[in-house]
Amino acid sequence: MNESFAEDPRGNLPDQARILITGSTGQLGLELQRIFAGSGSIAALDRTTLDLAHPDQIRAVVRRVRPQVILNAGAYTAVDRAETERDLADAVNAEAPRILAEEALRLNALLVHYSTDYVFDGTKPEPWTETDTAHPLNAYGASKLAGEQAIQSAGGRYLVFRASWVYGPHGKNFLLTMLRLARERDRLSIVNDQIGAPTTSIALANATREIVMGALAGHFGADWTGLYHMTCSGATSWFGFAQAIFARAAVALGVKAPELVPIATTDYPTPARRPHNSVLSSAKLRDRFAVELPGWESALDEVLQVLRRSSSQ
Ligand SMILES: NC(=O)c1ccc[n+]([C@@H]2O[C@H](COP(=O)([O-])OP(=O)(O)OC[C@H]3O[C@@H](n4cnc5c(N)ncnc54)[C@H](OP(=O)(O)O)[C@@H]3O)[C@@H](O)[C@H]2O)c1
Repeated sequence: MNESFAEDPRGNLPDQARILITGSTGQLGLELQRIFAGSGSIAALDRTTLDLAHPDQIRAVVRRVRPQVILNAGAYTAVDRAETERDLADAVNAEAPRILAEEALRLNALLVHYSTDYVFDGTKPEPWTETDTAHPLNAYGASKLAGEQAIQSAGGRYLVFRASWVYGPHGKNFLLTMLRLARERDRLSIVNDQIGAPTTSIALANATREIVMGALAGHFGADWTGLYHMTCSGATSWFGFAQAIFARAAVALGVKAPELVPIATTDYPTPARRPHNSVLSSAKLRDRFAVELPGWESALDEVLQVLRRSSSQ
């Protein structure tokens, strides 16, 4: 735990905001800590210091820390396991955000929460917008949608950012799995008929910081609370993502690319169904905050550079 939390008697915003980050060991939690460092007093709490499955603990911790901003990076993200652990997924993804939203309202704090492209069923051929009807295909998506709705009905100040295909230099993700598998196998079969926007934890954290600090400083007027799609631009399939990873990793990391075989979702059955098209339109985010995430390919380059630097240290 990194709990460098000092009382700020001046209560100044935004420079000295008290910021509570949940899920601090996750992909996004790690980047948020890095990017918000210096923007305020940060209480970065992991599962051992704030277990989001325990409502009483959430209330007690938030009341003790009294944050002005809560960045809820914690989530139950095991999409397939959620099919058989629905109660836990709901506790962490739906009930915990509801309690955080209630506690944020008591403190007049801003709650920043993250949701997912998997709230959609994937049937629309174009990118999904915030006004499209959510219809999750799996238990994880349903739990995340319930979390969004709980926050929206709590009545406080919030920003819900729906991300997609999140990966970065740390944690469990598709990029790091591909790099590991390349060391173990000569041939990889990758699904080619699910389309989405790979989005980096770095880009999400950067955009979050810009928006939160701008909102707290009054740069966006009064009515910025709401639900926004926040993904890197462009789109590809998992197969296309893997091709891009190995084309770049050969140069950046000296990784020997395996042979890639495109397969259909039906050839790779999983416990949880996944949407075919889960590309999100981030137009609302751009129009409201003038914030745009990079294209998914340049964001991938950035992560590979981070990996290259850390492998050469
Ligand atoms: N990953 C994706 O592809 C993806 C796609 C779309 C949206 N999102 C959303 O983006 C957000 C960030 O995801 P991420 O990729 O950073 O996920 P992640 O790497 O799996 O991190 C999730 C974090 O939540 C923590 N956590 C899980 N259960 C907890 C509990 N009971 N109490 C406290 N902490 C708990 C995990 O801790 P442990 O390490 O101890 O388990 C981990 O630190 C989430 O809201 C997720 O739903 C993710």
